[in-house]
Amino acid sequence: MILIQRSISSIVHRVTEIPEHLLKRSRDRKSGDSASSGESAGSSGDNVPAVQKAAVPAKSVKNEPSVVVAKPDTPRVAAAKSRKKIPFWAMATLSLLPLWAFLYAYAVKPQAKVVEGPLAIGSEVYGGCAGCHGAAGQGGAGRILHQGEVLKTFPHIEDMLNFVYTGSQAYVSAGIKQYGNLEREGGAHAPLSYNGNAMPQQGETYGGGLSQAEILGVVCHARYGVSGADQKSEQWAKEYETWCSPESEIFKALETGGTSFDTVSKDFSMLKEKPNEVGTKPRASTAN
Ligand code: HEC
Repeated sequence: MILIQRSISSIVHRVTEIPEHLLKRSRDRKSGDSASSGESAGSSGDNVPAVQKAAVPAKSVKNEPSVVVAKPDTPRVAAAKSRKKIPFWAMATLSLLPLWAFLYAYAVKPQAKVVEGPLAIGSEVYGGCAGCHGAAGQGGAGRILHQGEVLKTFPHIEDMLNFVYTGSQAYVSAGIKQYGNLEREGGAHAPLSYNGNAMPQQGETYGGGLSQAEILGVVCHARYGVSGADQKSEQWAKEYETWCSPESEIFKALETGGTSFDTVSKDFSMLKEKPNEVGTKPRASTAN
């Protein structure tokens, strides 16, 4: 047998002419033992102990799988493993982030909507009147309103609402010679009689920019804030309650569109303090 194998291998050698050093390297690899690398690879007998040597450590490796598994981590994997994870308690905090966002948005939101009631809204709207009438109603390009002056002109709030809605030019056009209290001390006011300028119309049918609720608000502010009407006095308490208090049903109805200057006297005729006609067209003053 050995003779036959040798002769076959010598035939193979001759046919393929594999260089001897390559065969030697191949044998060395198979043996897996560097010990054989230094020896001459001529005889196959050298390979036998080499293979057996290799088999022994291979078996022992199988018996100790942990040695095989414990490959060293690459630096990248090691870094990922050693990196700090998000601690479990932080997840609770993180899950509250949407709530924080909501609260933040709420806190930053402008709070203009909180303003309620005729006087609160009116004091804001009055900013557009102050340029002519003065911040304290002391007058300027527009008439004096403070210290009871505007109350003298308009003992009835309905007449003031009508005048501010239409503006004084509409009174001139309608041929109405005097507005407000015709028995005003010092004489009734005539349109364009102050300095020749008109009180600009505020209501929407004349192209003004204020809603009817805003006009009521600014008129309340001009009377109770700027001009100093005492809401607790016998003279003004009823008017205040009906028109200018935060509970004013008329103000609320104007805001929601449940009533209007043209219908308010009818819509609220059931009130104890029955409102007079307001209207959106220039008209004669309310009788005393
Ligand atoms: C551009 C200036 C100007 C602005 C703005 C203005 N007014 Fe006047 N206002 C006048 C003038 C001028 C008169 C006098 C009108 C006249 O003589 O016909 C007047 C008259 C009045 C009167 C009558 C006072 C009286 O005793 O006769 C009232 C009430 C009034 N304004 C309220 C307001 C309110 C409320 C606002 C804001 C919504 C306002 N005005 C904005 C110029 C202005």
